[in-house]
This record gives sequence, structure tokens and C-alpha cells, in this order.
Amino acid sequence: MYELNLKLKTHQYPIFIGNSILQKSNILRSVCINKSAIVLVTNHTISTLWKQYIIDAFKVLSIQFYEFVIPDGEEYKNIETIEKCITFLLKKNCNRDIILIAFGGGVIGDITGFVASIYQRGVSYIQIPTTLLAQVDASIGGKTGVNHTLGKNMLGVFWHPDAVIIDTNFLNTLSRKQLVSGMAEVVKYGIIFDELFFNWLEKKYYELLNLKKEDILYCIKKCCEFKVNVVIKDERESYLRTILNLGHTFGHAIESYIGYGKYLHGEAISIGIVMAARTAEILNIINTVDVQRIIYLLKKIGLPTIAPKNMNPDEYIPYMIKDKKSINNGKIRLILPKKIGHVEIYSDIENKIILRAISNAS
Ligand code: GLY
Repeated sequence: MYELNLKLKTHQYPIFIGNSILQKSNILRSVCINKSAIVLVTNHTISTLWKQYIIDAFKVLSIQFYEFVIPDGEEYKNIETIEKCITFLLKKNCNRDIILIAFGGGVIGDITGFVASIYQRGVSYIQIPTTLLAQVDASIGGKTGVNHTLGKNMLGVFWHPDAVIIDTNFLNTLSRKQLVSGMAEVVKYGIIFDELFFNWLEKKYYELLNLKKEDILYCIKKCCEFKVNVVIKDERESYLRTILNLGHTFGHAIESYIGYGKYLHGEAISIGIVMAARTAEILNIINTVDVQRIIYLLKKIGLPTIAPKNMNPDEYIPYMIKDKKSINNGKIRLILPKKIGHVEIYSDIENKIILRAISNAS
């Protein structure tokens, strides 16, 4: 098992990474100590597949245990679900000493964290991510929130968990589509931070998709380290953390325009990464070989690399402008790769370049 530590000014928490670690260890005991109740927040899919595993893991604690189950999908990441969850907690007479468990993918993590941040002015929660995407990215760093019909993640706060427990056992029941979607965030880390890691992904993507134990563990640990190092330096995304949004400004526009849930997050991000790479190519800040390598790896993994047919290039711009992270003095701010392993933040790109890049990714 690996253990990382995310140390912030006012808060610090462990990230445990391993196979079947939920039942093996004292981790849960240490995290849930002195809590009056545990409230598992999950979705129908995960609950059906893993209920017994989780009950077995928690029963040793002898603490009151509740389960709040929501339908599966990004389309339920909204304020209505938050209200339902809060009503559930109030009906169970939950006080401030409860601990919420976010048991699922990024959607469950965002919803649970948001509820934890506002319920009776804030309660504890832990993240037990079950998708690759949540294990390598969404569960770490305290971003919580929900979507608005006018924009993705428009409501939310930073509220860090007390711990993140990454048990790779959950990946065994993940659909191929979800696994592939999570790989988009993995490739993202290679492009942003580390050419050697990108080279390794080119060699190992097949083993990763087949969940070869030591490779998947190494991959998740590596991604968590990248993420932790950025969050430690810029918890609130004042500048540096923005680089983690490579491909996200385009990707969020796709998700918002096409409708939440139609594209998995990672699928939209994959297309967004291609658009960012194409933008960099038009501006001559990256060489074409690197762009080709990026697109080739995404394709090999099975990720989409072509813009949705029913979305015209100019339909991206209003969504990109609305994306809170993408605006700087009224201009669209984009994270662009200069080469594999290095990105930079650009705030002065003309819309016509962006439109050309979107067309080039069609
Ligand atoms: N998913 C990017 C971040 O947490 O900052």
C-alpha cells in the first residue's frame, strides 16, 4: 500500500492507495473515530455491486450506518440532489458529528463534498473513489460542487476530505467505457508534467486497460503525486492549479452544450486536449510530432478525438467564456502544451485561432 500526505496550511489528510485496502486495514477506524453516524452516499450501480464489501468493511466500527443512494450519472449532479441528501440527513437526525462517505465516481465525490461543506455549516467526509477518473483526479484536492443548466460546476466550494482511500479493487467492475474515460485524465498528467510518464503510458496503456495490478497501482500513485504537488502549492487555484484544466475549457463546453451525461467527462476532456494541442500547433508553440503522439495515444486507448458533429465551432465560445476558470480580464485563458511534459497558461489567444483549432479537431 502507498500512503501520500496532502499538507495544506489549515488541513492535512492522507491518501491511501492499494488493492483491497478497505477491509484489510485500520484505516476506517482511524478516520471514523468519535463519529456519531456514518452516511454512505453512493449511486445505484455501485450500491448493487459493492454493498456487501462496504458493509463488511464498516461493520467492525459499530457506528450507526445509513446509506443515501442516488441515480447514476452527471445529469444528477445538481442542486436538487443536494437538497434531497440534506433532507435525508435531517430526517435521520444527523448532527455535526457525522461523517459522510463519498462512495462512487467524481459525481458522487462532488455531491458528497458539497453536502458536507454546507450541512450544519460543515461536517467531515471521506472519499472512497471507485472510478479511475476519481481515483487519479477528482477525489483529491477538495473541489466540490454541482452543475447548473447554464454551466458545469457553477456552484461549489473547496472543502477537503479527512482522507482519500483508493482501493483499486473497485476498478474490476468498472465498465470499459468508464475506464477509458478515466485514462483521459491520466494522459493529461503526462502531457502537463512528465514526458517520461507519457512514454511509459505509450508502452503500458494496454496493461493499464487490462488492470495489470502493479502497473495500475504505479499509474494511480504517480497521478496522485502530480496532483498533490500542485494542490499543495496552489490550493484555491489562483494560478498554478489551473494547469490541471488542460482540455477542460473545451471539454466543459461540449458537456454543457450536448447535455450532461451524453459524453463521459473524460471523453469530453480527450476531445478538449486535442483542441488545446491543435491551438498550440496553430500558434507554432508545439511541434506537430508531439501533437500526433498525443492524438495517437488517446485514440489507441479508445478515447474520442473528434469534435461532436452537431456542435459548430462558434457554439463553443459562449460556454468557454462562462467557464469560471477560463477567463482572465475578459479573455479566454487556455492551458496549452508547449511539448509533451510541459504546458503554459495563455490569456491572449484570439477567438479566430480557437475556432480554427476546433475545426481542425473535427
Ligand atoms: N480536476 C482539476 C483540479 O482538481 O484542480
